[in-house]
Amino acid sequence: MNPLEVTLNRLHLRNPILVASGTFGYAREMQSFAEFARLGGIIPKTVTPLPRIGNPPPRTVETASGLLNSIGLDNDGIEAFLDKHLTYLLGLGTAIIVNIAGHDIAEFGQMAKRLNPYKEIAAVELNISCPNVSGGVDFATEPKLTSQVVSEVRAVCDLPLIAKLTPNVTRVVDIAAAAAEAGADAVTLVNTFQGMAVDWKKRKPILGNVLGGLSGPAIKPLALRIVHQVSQAVKVPIIGVGGIQSIDDVMEFLITGATAVQIGTANFYDPTLASRLVDQLAEVVKSQGCQRVTELIGTLQLPNRSGCQK
Ligand code: SIN
Repeated sequence: MNPLEVTLNRLHLRNPILVASGTFGYAREMQSFAEFARLGGIIPKTVTPLPRIGNPPPRTVETASGLLNSIGLDNDGIEAFLDKHLTYLLGLGTAIIVNIAGHDIAEFGQMAKRLNPYKEIAAVELNISCPNVSGGVDFATEPKLTSQVVSEVRAVCDLPLIAKLTPNVTRVVDIAAAAAEAGADAVTLVNTFQGMAVDWKKRKPILGNVLGGLSGPAIKPLALRIVHQVSQAVKVPIIGVGGIQSIDDVMEFLITGATAVQIGTANFYDPTLASRLVDQLAEVVKSQGCQRVTELIGTLQLPNRSGCQK
């Protein structure tokens, strides 16, 4: 028995520690640092139907409270991904979750159809939440659109599906419910929070695209809140992401209801972190007197608030 194994509907992972899309390149870049085969899985940078040059520089800026990025889905397109990266990725001895984005619903369907024959792909993550391209978040701001994208992909692709959702909405719960109902095996909560950095002396925004997405420790409480709200309201496995940089952060997400987590911004300054977290997680499971990590998932004890209500 592997004590760290987790199952998210049709997606099986040897452990819950994944690396987030856009923070690990196509893995080659990380090969001298990370022990890929120890990870629960790798999610490479988002792939789009055609090559994209991305947004004008500067594309990243460190703020006092996290990293702002506006990359703009810079990538070489799906055909180059299949030619240059997929075989390498599938040989790394860990689950590969391909992250895709389309301009419209039909493009999501076309890409999913193209990936469907590659049965060694562990899952497809739908990036319906990029805040840095026109139309990027639209699919995850309306339950109906979310449902349409997921249904379109489900109809042409029988690989496990994950919907990566945006926090930049009023009610993520409704969007998560729509994704689950349309057939998503899991939801990733959450992509970056839209933000901005300004150089007041120059009277200019710092990012070339003006707005960007904030990630890093500052967003952890916000992401945890969303994991909590969705886990209380929707029956769908959750992959938590947002500011994770220690085993305590991992445990906070798991206890709150995430079945797996993604390490994101921390990969930029410590690409060895994710593999170390796997060992640390095994130690925590043991020290808590558990046989399996699943015994700890969703064990948050909420206060009984009935006494406070008048
Ligand atoms: C980007 O490429 O701009 C970031 C991707 C994302 O936030 O989904």
